Amino acid sequence: MTETGATRRRDQRDGETRDSRETSVRLPGRTTLRTHTSLKSVTREVHPEGCDGSVLLDGSATGPSEKNAPPNLTLRPEAFAIIEDLRRRVHQACGPVVSCSDIVALAARDSVSLSGGPLYGIPLGRRDGLNFATTDQVLNDLPFPQANVSDLLPFFLSRNLSIADMVTLSGGHTIGLSNCSSFRNRLFPNRDPTLNQTFADQLLAICPTNTSTNGTVLDVRTPRQFDNKYYVNLVNREGLFTSDQDLFTDARTRDIVANYAANESFFFEQFPLSMIRMGQIGVLTGTQGEIRTNCSARNNAGRVNMVVPDMDEEETTRATY
Ligand code: HEM
Repeated sequence: MTETGATRRRDQRDGETRDSRETSVRLPGRTTLRTHTSLKSVTREVHPEGCDGSVLLDGSATGPSEKNAPPNLTLRPEAFAIIEDLRRRVHQACGPVVSCSDIVALAARDSVSLSGGPLYGIPLGRRDGLNFATTDQVLNDLPFPQANVSDLLPFFLSRNLSIADMVTLSGGHTIGLSNCSSFRNRLFPNRDPTLNQTFADQLLAICPTNTSTNGTVLDVRTPRQFDNKYYVNLVNREGLFTSDQDLFTDARTRDIVANYAANESFFFEQFPLSMIRMGQIGVLTGTQGEIRTNCSARNNAGRVNMVVPDMDEEETTRATY
């Protein structure tokens, strides 16, 4: 999974091949709305079982799936359909040699660039897990939008991500949508004093009661554009979730937010690095796990495991696209 000099050289040498493979896993013609789901999926997919595609699995006799755990219910069914559609197309073109987990990572990467953000290479070679996390594990291990920096930090630090990674990855909220349920704690029973009053009025119009089920955009300035305006919102006290706004309230993260708000290029440099670090958490490689032939189900027991018999180690474990 490491991006080595050898891999980079190979990428340059085989530039044509790499480009054609990339094209086959891009999302041409997808709406921006749909691409948001891929970026969010990768975040949910790397926790708590690691980046092994476990969030894509349907439930089984052993219990409900991760996608049925309450925090993941906001993952839209269309995200799972997109990932499965991509898997089908990739496997049709190349055979069953690319894991669902890698496809999620590639879709997230592409959703960033298709929305105007940086395009970057990511290490590939993940394999899909055989198990999914229990509902309790998901509930314990996923960060909540009502969390503040002190709540969120242990979650990131325990996964070898830094405080700066936490701020940088939260910038993923520069695109996408949210339901009132994720931020109503900031309106009811009392207004969160860190909310800009005009912005609070707008949110109240969308979510007039604490049971409203409407939704709104995560980035009030440029909701469909991957840019640094998420951080500009935070500086203006227009972050949507407590977990967003507290990044500017808390002295430990405030300067990083201010830097990104002032310097989009710096954010665009750092975001890929943090995404690559997040994408390496708990990966399965080599002979671990399997390459699923349907992202929502483990391969049949006893079926030949489609590993890539004729691929060399560099290709299976270190390819970078
Ligand atoms: C810091 C911890 C995080 C928390 C607490 C959090 C929480 C949430 C919540 C509650 C939603 C909206 C759910 C809904 O009401 O429908 C959401 C949406 C989203 N999140 Fe996060 N998130 C976090 C980190 C991330 C990261 C690291 C990324 C990507 C790098 C990300 C990308 C997204 C995207 C793209 C959406 C919009 C999805 C859509 O439009 O369907 N989030 N997040």
